[in-house]
Amino acid sequence: MQPLLQLTEIEKSFPGVKALKGASLAVYPGRVMALVGENGAGKSTMMKVLTGIYSRDAGSLRWLGNETTFSGPKASQEAGIGIIHQELNLIPQLSVAENIFLGREFVNRMGRIDWKRMYAEADALLKRLNLRFNSHKLVGDLSIGDQQMVEIAKVLSFKSQVIIMDEPTDALTDTETLSLFHVIKELKAQGCGIVYISHRMKEIFEICDDVTVFRDGQFIAERAVSDLTEESLIEMMVGRKLEDQYPHLEQAPGDVRLKVENLSGPGVHNVSFCLRKGEILGVSGLMGAGRTELMKVLYGALPRSEGKVWLGEREIVTRSPQDGLANGIVYISEDRKRDGLVLGMSVKENMSLTALRYFSHGAGNLKHAAEQLAVGDFIRLFNVKTPPWNSPLACYLAEINKKWRLRAV
Ligand SMILES: Nc1ncnc2c1ncn2[C@@H]1O[C@H](COP(=O)(O)OP(=O)(O)OP(=O)(O)O)[C@@H](O)[C@H]1O
Ligand SMILES: [Mg+2]
Repeated sequence: MQPLLQLTEIEKSFPGVKALKGASLAVYPGRVMALVGENGAGKSTMMKVLTGIYSRDAGSLRWLGNETTFSGPKASQEAGIGIIHQELNLIPQLSVAENIFLGREFVNRMGRIDWKRMYAEADALLKRLNLRFNSHKLVGDLSIGDQQMVEIAKVLSFKSQVIIMDEPTDALTDTETLSLFHVIKELKAQGCGIVYISHRMKEIFEICDDVTVFRDGQFIAERAVSDLTEESLIEMMVGRKLEDQYPHLEQAPGDVRLKVENLSGPGVHNVSFCLRKGEILGVSGLMGAGRTELMKVLYGALPRSEGKVWLGEREIVTRSPQDGLANGIVYISEDRKRDGLVLGMSVKENMSLTALRYFSHGAGNLKHAAEQLAVGDFIRLFNVKTPPWNSPLACYLAEINKKWRLRAV
């Protein structure tokens, strides 16, 4: 089968990092190509080289049989390649419809924006994705999952021949994921080629036809998904035999460490639970059920209106995140870009920011050597591929995000 799109032997370097060294990828009509590899393998970079966000140092790009270079995302979009980026790229202050049609608003004969048509078309896209909100809603008022669905709606609106989805289900619930899969099947039936980047094995085996594996910026293999098992795929990704994917740890739950009684706050009503030493407690519920809010109240980022919390024998009141931290409660947010990181600061500064008290001699004086040492340890521990730690974080965001999510693979 002739591929719609073929990237061959792509090379791309950033200062201090060779992100792609001979990476290849083909996308076929009516098929879903999974692109997999460990964090930092070069998957997102490959997509950015393809769409012209980054220029390639070497290698070839063939689109519909012709050697091509896209000058930027607008050019690749117009040629028929749509992309849903790993990081959200929406404007929170604008409505859903305004975000979807940004820069290509419908205009009537008078030269004015045809709002009616824009909202109607946007609503039709939301309906196709089974979404319950309408397109007048401000994007900033939507949950992260719903914002991700808006990104998906946006890419659908372009009617592309190839659609790239870079970890689209990261923030989605199971129901939203099902709606997305339904749309992927529709797109396949229309002859669209899809690149599906994901770390979720179950999804790859469910929705993808073929898989391309990258390791350390290199092409490792292209296979039919039906010829693989989860284990053999992971082995190709990591480059060694897997003894035990989820090592079993025997752990007897100990004493109660955290007790929450009748806790209430914004979006949280009368919640009680206990957490024992050595225990991992899952908190589940639908989007909007108050899971995030519950954790924020516990941590002190949202005000508590009622209820009691004990850490061991000691009752605690957390009125601010500082109180949470001082009591040994840490919170890793779902939206790291907004709540978790300071993008203008370096990797080092972000890592030590909430723990400066361990590195200070008193007001304003930092023990730089100790800070450097601790940050270095964490960079090694989490295998963060970052050249100079003093560079602003924005470039390394995707990488750091993922490390904190502590993926299974
Ligand atoms: N703008 C940039 N400047 C410098 N280095 C970068 C930049 N973007 C990516 N890199 C580096 O290139 C390598 C490949 O990163 P990339 O984001 O493509 O990986 P990925 O396979 O998408 O990983 P993930 O699964 O975590 O999304 C990493 O070592 C990363 O730190
Ligand atoms: Mg990526």
